[in-house]
Amino acid sequence: MTEISKLLDKPEFPRSGKYDADWLLENQMGPNVLWLMEWLTDVVKLKPGARVLDLGCGRAISSIFLAKEFGAKVWAADWWIGPDHNWERANKAGVADLICPIRQEAHALPFATGFFDAIVSIDAYQYFGTDTIYLDYLASFLREGGQVGVVVPGLTKPFENGVPEHLAEPQANGHAFWEPSCRCFKTADWWTDHWSGCAFVENISTEALSDGWKHWRDFEMVLEASEKNIFPSVAEALEKDQGRYIGFVRATATRNGTSGENLYDPTIGVRYGVDS
Ligand SMILES: C[S@@+](CC[C@H](N)C(=O)[O-])C[C@H]1O[C@@H](n2cnc3c(N)ncnc32)[C@H](O)[C@@H]1O
Repeated sequence: MTEISKLLDKPEFPRSGKYDADWLLENQMGPNVLWLMEWLTDVVKLKPGARVLDLGCGRAISSIFLAKEFGAKVWAADWWIGPDHNWERANKAGVADLICPIRQEAHALPFATGFFDAIVSIDAYQYFGTDTIYLDYLASFLREGGQVGVVVPGLTKPFENGVPEHLAEPQANGHAFWEPSCRCFKTADWWTDHWSGCAFVENISTEALSDGWKHWRDFEMVLEASEKNIFPSVAEALEKDQGRYIGFVRATATRNGTSGENLYDPTIGVRYGVDS
């Protein structure tokens, strides 16, 4: 077994282990999206034919995973990555009939109210979902009883005195783990509190991934070994951290029966105006 396959082989993520390592590494855009989606689907339950929005899907690895593992119909939506290559990837993976790739900004979703059985997002929701009322908007696209679930990089506990030195200081590669934008990393409790304000969901549950830092570090080591990283490695800082502060947070909730006009909806002109 090579160093790379040893690091990728995790008993916690048996489904992920079936996917080709080269394919994963060519298309990755951050921490191993297969592991994180596998962890999310432990609690977001999908049946064959379920309509799923994979929001911020990047290169659609997770969308292909959902189609292959659960037979879900996936709308693979991303803003930076266009649909052409994602469509090619879906075709090559043999799940073209289950995946609809679209370039889509998270605040302008072109879907019918109540359309989805589930909405999932890996390592993307932190970019737009810390907005107080974003979940009100997103939940409107879920049917009653449908689930929303996200996994984001986050904190295992709040900083006591500002950013800890081992995260703020440059690593040997000259790059510090903590960038200004990392302030969107929040604790599980923060996400619980944040989502509890939303009138349109219930059964909110959040937790940190056990050994999240270790999984993140191992994947960084894989990227270093394969020279496939698109960002400077943060393995050294994660090793120093040992999960004292850094990890992954999963947040899930269920759409309840509350209806109401969503005044935040940026497509409101279309929803209530000329298109009605
Ligand atoms: C770090 S990448 C993760 C991609 C993929 N989920 C993965 O884990 O491989 C973050 C993704 O979030 C998407 N994203 C960020 N802001 C977005 C927005 N406002 N609307 C839609 N997608 C967004 C980006 O396009 C990008 O592909």
